[in-house]
Amino acid sequence: MKLLIDDANINEIRRIMDIYPIDGVTTNPSILARSGKNPKDVLKEIRELIGEDSLLFAQAIPKECEEMLEDARAIVKALGRATVVKLPCTAEGFRAMKMLKKEGIITCGTAVYTPMQAYLAAKAGASYVAPYVNRIDNMGYDGVETVRQIQNILENGGYDCQILAASFKNSRQVLELCEYGIAAATCAPSIIDDFSSNPAVTKAVDDFTADFEKAHGKGSTMKSLLK
Ligand code: E4P
Repeated sequence: MKLLIDDANINEIRRIMDIYPIDGVTTNPSILARSGKNPKDVLKEIRELIGEDSLLFAQAIPKECEEMLEDARAIVKALGRATVVKLPCTAEGFRAMKMLKKEGIITCGTAVYTPMQAYLAAKAGASYVAPYVNRIDNMGYDGVETVRQIQNILENGGYDCQILAASFKNSRQVLELCEYGIAAATCAPSIIDDFSSNPAVTKAVDDFTADFEKAHGKGSTMKSLLK
C-alpha cells in the first residue's frame, strides 16, 4: 500500500518524510487554506521537497467542467506531469475526467462517499478514486466497508483505477484497508505517527538499553564492545 501525507505544512511534510517511507503528498482546498500561505508557493515548495517524480495531488477549485479543465491544466503546468489533479465525483467532475483523460492528465475522483461514484470515476478515466473513510463513518455508514466495495468493483470490472483512501481519524481504519490490499492511503502526519508510537514500544526499547547498560556499563553499544 502506498502511503501519502495529507497535509500542506512544509515542516510537517519534511519531518514525516525524514522518518517514514512516504510515496507522496495530497492536498485539498481546505488543507491549502489552513496553511495560510499562497497556494502556488506552498505547492511549489512541496513539489521541490518531494522531487519531480513523487506523487503530488492538487485539487481543481471550480464546480463547472470547463473551469475545472482550466484549473487542471494550470496545476500540471505549474507542478509537473507527476501531479494528479483531484476532481470531485460530481456530474461536472465526470465530464472533466473524460476530457482530461484524452489530454493525458492524471486525475483522481475525490469526495467519494458511495461506491457508485467510484465506479463512474473509474469508467470516466480517473486513475485514482478517493473515498472519505471517516466522513462516511460520521454519516452512520461504514467507511472501511465502502472502500472494500469499491475495491471489488475496480478489481472485478478490470478498471485501470486505484483507490487512494482518505479522511482517516485513527490507525485502525488504515490497518483494515492495508490488510485488504488497497493501493494507497493518505493520512495526516499525526495518524502516521500513531502507526508506531505506543507506550509498549517505548518501554520495550528502554528496557533493552537499560539491561544492556546494566551488564556492560553506561553508554555501551555494539560499536564500543565489538571493536
Ligand atoms: C483527501 O482527498 C481528502 O481531501 C481528505 O483526506 C479529507 O480529510 P478530512 O475528512 O479529514 O477533511
